[in-house]
Amino acid sequence: MAALAQKLSTRLGAAFAAHGLPEHLGQVQGSDRPDLAPFQCNGALAAARLAKKNPRDIAAQIAADLDGDPLIASTSIAGPGFLNLIPSAAAYADQANALMDDARTGAGAVQTPEKLVIDFGGPNVAKPMHVGHLRSSVIGDALQRLGRFVGHEVISDIHLGDWGLQMGHLITQLQDEQPDLCYFDERYSGPWPTEPPVNIDDLSRMYPAAAAAAKADEARMKRSRRATAELQAGREGYLVLLRHFIAVSRKALEQDFDALGVHFDLWKGESDVNPLIPAMIEDFKKRGVTEESQGALIIRVAREDDKKEQPPLILVSSEGSALYGTTDLATIVDRNQNIGQDRILYVVDQRQSQHFEQVFRAAAKAGLMAEDRLEHIGFGTVNGKDGKPFKTREGGVMRLSDLMTMAKTAARARMDEAGIGQDMDEATRSDVARMVGLAAIKFADLRNQRLTNYVFDMDRFTAFEGKTGPYLLYAAVRIKSILRKAADKGLSGGKILPHSAEEKALVLALDGFDGAVHGAWSKRAPHILCEHVFELAQAFSRFYAACPILPEKDDAIRASRLSLAELTLRQLETALGLLGLETPERM
Ligand code: ARG
Repeated sequence: MAALAQKLSTRLGAAFAAHGLPEHLGQVQGSDRPDLAPFQCNGALAAARLAKKNPRDIAAQIAADLDGDPLIASTSIAGPGFLNLIPSAAAYADQANALMDDARTGAGAVQTPEKLVIDFGGPNVAKPMHVGHLRSSVIGDALQRLGRFVGHEVISDIHLGDWGLQMGHLITQLQDEQPDLCYFDERYSGPWPTEPPVNIDDLSRMYPAAAAAAKADEARMKRSRRATAELQAGREGYLVLLRHFIAVSRKALEQDFDALGVHFDLWKGESDVNPLIPAMIEDFKKRGVTEESQGALIIRVAREDDKKEQPPLILVSSEGSALYGTTDLATIVDRNQNIGQDRILYVVDQRQSQHFEQVFRAAAKAGLMAEDRLEHIGFGTVNGKDGKPFKTREGGVMRLSDLMTMAKTAARARMDEAGIGQDMDEATRSDVARMVGLAAIKFADLRNQRLTNYVFDMDRFTAFEGKTGPYLLYAAVRIKSILRKAADKGLSGGKILPHSAEEKALVLALDGFDGAVHGAWSKRAPHILCEHVFELAQAFSRFYAACPILPEKDDAIRASRLSLAELTLRQLETALGLLGLETPERM
């Protein structure tokens, strides 16, 4: 279904065309002066330049043509020739009832669905997650939900970082701690233990220990590098260890991501594509896209018109190992073979933009995928109140589970402060605090334009007032409670007949959903949807303050308002769901 602004645009386009003027001049938009009229059309100004006439005269002609149109109650001309439009009562009513009848409350689907891979999350095995991984997870998840909602086939892949130096560090650290394990005996060839030699706490302790030791001791670093190279060259004992490390790490990660409410179709990692690398390199050589340079094998990606220098992508280092770019290219090969996607979105820190530029150019040069089918969806950094990259209170690196506990605790304190949930049993109250905490973190992230940096401030994020996740959950829960009371009284909704200014404004807010969904998707900008949800909640709040629902005596008016409340809740919950927010039943 078309939004009212679109219907008006079609109508005005026809009016311009009838005067021999381009149809697109009829474009109608939300007005800059909503106090005068909710919509305006500025086409008469451009038309005047084309037709060499006075813009106010043209506007007056168009206005005359619109006289008596069932969509329009009245028109007026402002300033040099802006045409203000007030929709008719019937137009509001038809629009509201059409939204009510639509299962998606107005949000349409894309015309050409694609098969998309979204590569996000990207935590590294054994290394603690940092806030960049959290952002990637929250933004990537919103995009996967939005992409599916608008009709694309989306395959999400966590793309674990499990093939770098950190693996060499873990191997050497384990060797130092338990030198007698069979994995380190070069003559041993199995059978291999099925139980991992470490648990998640060991892993979390071992990586930082090894990394610090290697930083202080060149020889220690060399051992880790050698172990990494041997692993990548296929040393069996090390490969078995790698599988153990990945399995142990994955189990903990799965719990964390489950708690975050973020799910992936694929849990593939860099190490999975290692077997594809030799053939890929042969193929690249045959295509003539590689070059030898100082003992390394590279792909040059610089172009004449580059403003910034573009260093070549290193495919094989002089030490013979595959690097980050190599596994990313092999991952495209793997996805081409197993998925056959039209497009890949990489939701990764903007600081990796040069890496992705190299990978995309190299992929295009090697004929893997066209560059315009590969998108880096970057984002800014999260800082602490001190302006430095955010760390948890102890100053250490963040663990996702700690962060979620922190959010839940803060949410719980806010709820107590506001007297929310006092009549609930402990389990329910704790679950509501969990949802409020998660909503706080996710919404605080998504509401910003993704490339901007923001300050991590749990106090602000968990506030029940302002543009926050908790405010929006509260808005939805409040409508739920109104509807429950109505049901208890045996009241039900009916045809929507917007009379008051607040009812009409609410209908227009609801009518903006389609535009917000498609704007957010096509620009890969969840903040556009956040903005919509916030405006919708505010429009409802103003409506509810001005228009009594349950106490209303007139049956038709009460039923209409009840339906408006129902419709608002449906859209609110749909939209919050797209952002990855869960709404409690009560608060
Ligand atoms: N593991 C990487 C990191 O921590 C992120 C992976 C992003 N995805 C990709 N295909 N490179 O920085």
